[in-house]
Amino acid sequence: MNTTAASPPRTSGPGAEAIVIGASGGIGGALVAEIARSPAFSRVHAGCRRPQTLEPPTGPATVEPFGIDVADEASVAGAAGRLARAGARPSLVVYAVGVLHDDRLAPEKKLGEIDLARLTAGFTVNAFGAALVAKHFAALLPRRDRAVFAAISARVGSIGDNRLGGWYTYRASKAALNMLMRNVSIELPRRHRGTLTVCLHPGTVDTALSAPFQGGVPAGSLFSPDRAARQLLDVIERLGPDDNGGFFAWDGQPIPW
Ligand SMILES: NC(=O)c1ccc[n+]([C@@H]2O[C@H](COP(=O)([O-])OP(=O)(O)OC[C@H]3O[C@@H](n4cnc5c(N)ncnc54)[C@H](OP(=O)(O)O)[C@@H]3O)[C@@H](O)[C@H]2O)c1
Repeated sequence: MNTTAASPPRTSGPGAEAIVIGASGGIGGALVAEIARSPAFSRVHAGCRRPQTLEPPTGPATVEPFGIDVADEASVAGAAGRLARAGARPSLVVYAVGVLHDDRLAPEKKLGEIDLARLTAGFTVNAFGAALVAKHFAALLPRRDRAVFAAISARVGSIGDNRLGGWYTYRASKAALNMLMRNVSIELPRRHRGTLTVCLHPGTVDTALSAPFQGGVPAGSLFSPDRAARQLLDVIERLGPDDNGGFFAWDGQPIPW
């Protein structure tokens, strides 16, 4: 991407709206807070499975929690329909949902730990949910004006960058996410001319998802969620038309597929 553009076209501006899905998570919650603090947005729709538990941050922008379970297409479609009826006009949609481990299962270290139920659950949340969100939320995007659909991916989803192996479900589901979003980036501009679809790597961020794996992270390389959110929003603002369909890190550098 062009990291030196002096005045890139903006996703935000007076009256701008954003949708963040995964608002209960470390990165998603920080994105909601950062957008709410920004005078450049007037409204942020904060989606998660248990919206009643969200404590909306205060800021110039209004935060409106809504319920969505990305593993349930009826829930995704219902959420999109309710937002449409409420008049939501987002210029930014961020898919900040993901799973790496749960209470019972750590990421696979070897083939023998592969398990169909775990693969299915990981692909559903990390990849398929983003495609369902693109399918049902696309109608909310503007027909002509600039907008961004960003999926939070992970560098470990890069096939070209994979030298360590392991983490079968997470790596492969993020690679699948990247391909799904690349497809979306080709189709969406046919009906939404100004929409850019990208995958973004947030860096290693201090959240529940990364908590068990932070031991080997070099000093200074573990970002707070607030910092990660600011960096991601900065990359989003600097995206240009040639960046549609790309995979970028937190500093705007492209990542090999
Ligand atoms: N943290 C890192 O170092 C790092 C690095 C690279 C990439 N990422 C990516 O960044 C994204 C956000 O991760 P995070 O670090 O913020 O993790 P996190 O704090 O664990 O948040 C994960 C989010 O995903 C949501 N989620 C899981 N299953 C869902 C479902 N079926 N429907 C709706 N929401 C669901 C969780 O909601 P509940 O609260 O309802 O469970 C939560 O909001 C993920 O895609 C992750 O892969 C993170």
